[in-house]
Amino acid sequence: MYDFDKLVDRSNSSSVKYEETGLKFGRNDIMPFWVADMDFKAPDFMIETLVKRAEHGIFGYTKRMPDFYDSIVSWLKTRHDLEVKRENIEYGPGVVFLLNMMVRLFTEPNDKIIIQTPVYYPFFSVVEGNNRRIMENTLVFKDGKYTMDFEDLEAKASDPECTMMILCSPHNPVGRVWTKEELTKVSEICNRNNVLVLADEIHFDLVYSESKHISYASISEEAKANSITCTAPSKTFNIAGLHTAYCIMYNEERLTKYRNALGQLDLNRSNSFSREITQSVYENGSQWVDELVDYLEGNRNYICDFITKNIKGITPHKIEATYLMWLDCSGLGLESEEIEDLFVNKAKLALDCGRWFGKSGDKFMRINFASPRSMLETAMKNLERAVKELKK
Ligand SMILES: Cc1ncc(COP(=O)(O)O)c(C=O)c1O
Repeated sequence: MYDFDKLVDRSNSSSVKYEETGLKFGRNDIMPFWVADMDFKAPDFMIETLVKRAEHGIFGYTKRMPDFYDSIVSWLKTRHDLEVKRENIEYGPGVVFLLNMMVRLFTEPNDKIIIQTPVYYPFFSVVEGNNRRIMENTLVFKDGKYTMDFEDLEAKASDPECTMMILCSPHNPVGRVWTKEELTKVSEICNRNNVLVLADEIHFDLVYSESKHISYASISEEAKANSITCTAPSKTFNIAGLHTAYCIMYNEERLTKYRNALGQLDLNRSNSFSREITQSVYENGSQWVDELVDYLEGNRNYICDFITKNIKGITPHKIEATYLMWLDCSGLGLESEEIEDLFVNKAKLALDCGRWFGKSGDKFMRINFASPRSMLETAMKNLERAVKELKK
């Protein structure tokens, strides 16, 4: 059994989550539950992999051998029941890097790109930072659940200037695991309108017991041909600092174009550690992930129950995947800035602000609960106290 309750001091480790809190939230004396990495120590087998590689002592130009790709193929098969061939997979330093590259390579300046808001905020800059235009297919909140607005999606996809949709699956921050029916409708609309689907599936391993992730490309042969999947072991194994993403593409021409672009940027060789760790986690990490997901599910349930019972005005979303919970704070009767002030200056908690995820995120906050339970207990008590004081 792995110990997810253990507290680890992350100060002085160049952690963005800990060392940029002051910069981002204006004060350092607050608990960080924002940027999406976990406060759990890596299991011994991961540390041993990196130490062994370090002890070799030579870190020259490194390539990825076939067994690197085989480890990805085997993970996709055993964990996701996906049959992917080695030749359809290519490395990328990060998922956001991959999204940027795909937008640059497979759309033209000024094209329109669909995103489903509220959504992981780099999606906005991936589109606008590359001089493309955003089309928001805003998610609909209905019967306690976020769903897709297919009528609006069809209308936007049929615009001749629209050439791509970036799908977040599972979705950050609303935590949906899209069903086969929903993904099938997306693929019918996008295929009919010749809109390429860029599926960001980085959270695909972190899905709770009542749901099952379905990879977009597995929906149909058309979806496979008309999509690019970008994912990584980085959220699952907490190795965002090691640059370990990859993409899966079934169109040879696109894959060659991507490989050439990666080579042009001289990014096609691997960091010695990223190559080793990817293979190691995918070969040895199954049990750790099973236990991690159990622990995270416990954290999710704890936060949901605590807030529902003790904090009036905040409604937690019982997310189906990810360790990022979407909190509806509109019942507090405060403006966005007042909600943010409540969290930062009264509860002393640093959470992502809902408005960062688009207009439809206004009056929401997003909590990263991938921390030992005792930290969450402190956070919840602080929040309860702050909300009670507000009402006095
Ligand atoms: C949906 C989504 N995509 C991508 C990323 C970041 O990926 P990377 O660090 O590989 O760029 C995140 C991080 O939270 C995310 O939630």
